[in-house]
Amino acid sequence: MATLSEITSLCKRRGFIFQSSELYGGINGFWDYGPLGTELKRNIRQAWWRDMVSWHNPLLAPAGAPAAFAMVGIETSVIMNPQVWKVSGHYDLFQDLMVDCRETKLRYRYDQLRGRWAEARGRKIFITADPDAEDEFDFVSRRASKLFKVPTGSPELKWASDFMSLSQIAVEDFVGVLAPQAQAPGTLSEPREFNLMFKTYVGALTSEEHAAYLRPETAQGIFLNFKNVIDSSRVRLPLGIAQIGKSFRNEITPRQFTFRSREFEQMEIEFFCHPSTSEAWYRYWRDRRLRWYFDLGIKPANVRLREHDKRELSHYSRGTADIEYAFPFLPAGDFGELEGVAHRGDFDLRSHMEGKLDPNSNPLLVERDSAGQPRWRGSGKNLAYRDERTNETYIPHVIEPSAGVDRALLAFICDAMQTDEAPDDTGTLRQRSVLRLSPRLAPVKVAVLPLVRKDGMPEIARDIHNALVRHVAVQYDEKDAIGRRYRRADEIGTPLCITVDGQTLRDNTVTFRNRDDLSQWRVHVNDCEAEVRRFIGA
Ligand code: GAP
Repeated sequence: MATLSEITSLCKRRGFIFQSSELYGGINGFWDYGPLGTELKRNIRQAWWRDMVSWHNPLLAPAGAPAAFAMVGIETSVIMNPQVWKVSGHYDLFQDLMVDCRETKLRYRYDQLRGRWAEARGRKIFITADPDAEDEFDFVSRRASKLFKVPTGSPELKWASDFMSLSQIAVEDFVGVLAPQAQAPGTLSEPREFNLMFKTYVGALTSEEHAAYLRPETAQGIFLNFKNVIDSSRVRLPLGIAQIGKSFRNEITPRQFTFRSREFEQMEIEFFCHPSTSEAWYRYWRDRRLRWYFDLGIKPANVRLREHDKRELSHYSRGTADIEYAFPFLPAGDFGELEGVAHRGDFDLRSHMEGKLDPNSNPLLVERDSAGQPRWRGSGKNLAYRDERTNETYIPHVIEPSAGVDRALLAFICDAMQTDEAPDDTGTLRQRSVLRLSPRLAPVKVAVLPLVRKDGMPEIARDIHNALVRHVAVQYDEKDAIGRRYRRADEIGTPLCITVDGQTLRDNTVTFRNRDDLSQWRVHVNDCEAEVRRFIGA
């Protein structure tokens, strides 16, 4: 698999992803998508929306589903009444522990700082690695040699432990911890809780009563509108409500390119069903969402489904599974979360009815303060569902498949980026860099290329381009030798090239070239659109 630096370099060079505000030195945790990235991202969103919502047939149960069901979409606001986040638990609980470096003013996530104890010249120091260092071993070795003033690899320097998390070290021992960029040990603060929601103020006043938050997930907007959708859309349970939209989290250490960003996009479904069927629906969604990545070309060897064990689950949850990808920037054998599929029981709807529930109590109880008052009040509205066919009224259970658009995009690029060999203009095999994206996702589906810029070939190629442009994403390219143009198309993942050549002038056929196996075949100019559609499945 390509390395992170090869991936970031391709993304910048070919216009997939740029650093946000680059002209002013950037801003950590924010990214801009260039022309190809925008198309790729749009195709991911569209594939998800079509596969989950618009192509869904509510009259037929899909393979593996316990029953037929309805799917509808929704688009809710980024800023909501702050009570939403108090009741959902984000206001109290959505936080990470962080440590500050007093010397460099840098802030780190407590669980992400790793290092090892080193001993030399009578001192023992815990040397931490920068979470962004490509090679933590190399980083820590160089830091140790500088700190103790001994050459790297010197027998004077002894490692007194293996790599371990800072959280395994007692806070009293922080005096002996060297922070990643600090000059001397002992600069790290005690771990402190830090809420990840971005705060803002609504209206002209900046007092606490006007404080509001940018949503850290799109899910709450769906729960809040469950009743509105039921009352307005003539849909019955089982029902999925889907939403794609931006979410914001003030991550302490955004890192690994777009993997952990402060502004990102989510594709979430809240699937409402009868409590007696919820475990079957949980298994259905977990398996279906995993298959979605395979159907779009992700190699099964690079993905795994990890069921949380009982100790990781909140009391209300009967199951959570993460779909994880072996991102190349993670240590060998490690996987990073692409999507979570959670069985949330009736926790969210009940909380928005009654007030903040204690996720770890059995049965779920409203949280109360020391005076016995509800910690945060719910809406008081009845969000129960009445099934008109059975006359039963119940609070639905919810299955939540929650995916990240940016993480999916990064995984699709990591998985598709390869180097192999292809013949150049003289027939000699040369290395080429190719992005084997699924044709559904590829930002450009077809490149139309006149073999040479004369003999009427550009005119024919332009006509083909102009006929295709309203149907598929197509590019016209006449600059440079044909081999170089093929390489440019391969590098951005264009599945098909159409070349107008000498034979076109004689028999009106053009060459179609397949990016992946380099096979070529001839197609009549009048049949180009049909052949492109057949090939890319549009
Ligand atoms: N409503 C449930 C929820 O938000 P989550 O596991 O916190 O669950 C779901 O987030 C997905 O959103 C993740 O699997 C990931 O793909 C994406 N995501 C979460 N935080 C992210 C971040 N800081 N940067 C990029 N993507 C993120």
